[in-house]
Amino acid sequence: SRTRVYRWTVSQVVGAPIGVNKTMVVVNGASPGPLIEANHNDRIIVYVRNGLDREGTSIHWYELYLNVGKDPNLKGKPRHGLFQNHTDFYDGTTGVTQCAIPPGETLVYNFTLDGWAGTTWWHGHTDMQHTEGLFGAIVVHQPAERVPRYNEERVIVLSDIYNTPAAKLLPEYLNSNPMETVPEPVPDAATINGRGQFGGGGDGGGFYNFSLAPHKTYRLRLINAGSFAPLRFAVDGHVLTVVEADGTPVEPLAVDSLTLQVAQRYSVLLSTDQVAAAYWMRVTIDESMFAYTNEKMQKVALGVVRYTTAPTTALPPPLPLSTGAAAELIRRTELDETALIPAEHIDAPAAGLAIPFTFSIQRTHFQNWRSFMNGTSWELLSQGQATRVAGTARGAEVGTRVWPGDQLIASIHDVQSVDFVINNLDDAAHPFHLHGYKPWIMATGRGRFKPAATMSLNTTNPMRRDTFFVPARGWAVIRIVTDTPGYWAFHCHIAWHMAAGGLFQVAVQPATMAEVPLPADIVAQCESWLVSEST
Ligand code: C2O
Repeated sequence: SRTRVYRWTVSQVVGAPIGVNKTMVVVNGASPGPLIEANHNDRIIVYVRNGLDREGTSIHWYELYLNVGKDPNLKGKPRHGLFQNHTDFYDGTTGVTQCAIPPGETLVYNFTLDGWAGTTWWHGHTDMQHTEGLFGAIVVHQPAERVPRYNEERVIVLSDIYNTPAAKLLPEYLNSNPMETVPEPVPDAATINGRGQFGGGGDGGGFYNFSLAPHKTYRLRLINAGSFAPLRFAVDGHVLTVVEADGTPVEPLAVDSLTLQVAQRYSVLLSTDQVAAAYWMRVTIDESMFAYTNEKMQKVALGVVRYTTAPTTALPPPLPLSTGAAAELIRRTELDETALIPAEHIDAPAAGLAIPFTFSIQRTHFQNWRSFMNGTSWELLSQGQATRVAGTARGAEVGTRVWPGDQLIASIHDVQSVDFVINNLDDAAHPFHLHGYKPWIMATGRGRFKPAATMSLNTTNPMRRDTFFVPARGWAVIRIVTDTPGYWAFHCHIAWHMAAGGLFQVAVQPATMAEVPLPADIVAQCESWLVSEST
């Protein structure tokens, strides 16, 4: 194993990914930011310096089960068995596991990758910084990973993008007329590795070019790093074989296209077995969740896949860029995410505790739109506060505003098998994400969950993934074994819904947490906010 050290600066820049100037939040000047590529047992140390003028920042490492076993803070502390090594210290969630990193200061994230392999990502977890470009890919290699052989790989980070700053769009959304449908801001375009097109046929930020050698098999690692839109991915003339989803290797499944909900990742194998030429890679915005249409939206982002044996000037056939016609050319076998089967057979343990959760988006006296889970909605009032720091489970005591209850929606005190039974009262589907775990997806359905359905949950090798879809006016049951202590965020990953208060937390073994205080640098940064905010 190796130790890999990264030095990052978060800053604000003006960029033009789709040819329109836009204020962005980036790492080391770029969005997507630096790729972290490592092996499954490496130690990762990232110096994150906040180069923003006024705002705090933080980085979340998407479900790496942060293992800080060699952290000096753990030395000599009582151990409660095997799982003590895994904690939430460097999960990177402002208001939950840390205070925001103050401007000019650096936080050193330090963890190992034990137990993780596959495709994941990192992103800002403070305010709307993720929407403004603060994200990048993480690739973790593991020789024993159960995926078919391939020759080479490419990382493809997809995102939706807004020309208008999120800071302007968010209050418009939160305060919009409640007599109308909830109008989450609709994006202007999509990007492929930070490039896309906008505006009636121009090539905007240019096309991302992929050169691929003929007669080889490529693993394309796809990540939807966006904020709202599901994105459908396809490469003209090529079959895609799905082999991994959210770090879980799956039985190979051949499709023509696949849709990634925000925060989901897939690996697909593509064989360069076609005529040596150039082909379009198409990333189509799925509008099914949109409450209204954006007339100017560039519905399809295009990249160019060019065989190395084709002339470097070769372009794929011209397309009408600004209409839905481009999308229609995609062949029709679309991935059904419920058909995925893990390649490594792991049965879910028998059910223990079942915790009911009810999600909704409602108007309140304070703001027209808030997201609620079990009657609570959340807002960070002080950058210097985090549940984990105060060593208390009560959001209200640590400077978060809760509407009207407690942001902490569940506490689980020991290691056991727990079902989250999520009822979604909203008329849209939501991509949910639980930090710290990769749950078994036991079942989803329409309407309200009925207890009788518990009997029919299939425990035989269910799909395991960290980002799953809860159907519109429907339900999902996920199962975890609560062996990773921490205050773990649990939320819909649509940035607008999180910002409307849809960020909740689940405490796993809170007593253990109290015994293992946060690293001193995190605590010091909380204190520096409290000093600056009180003056
Ligand atoms: Cu992508 Cu709370 O995270």
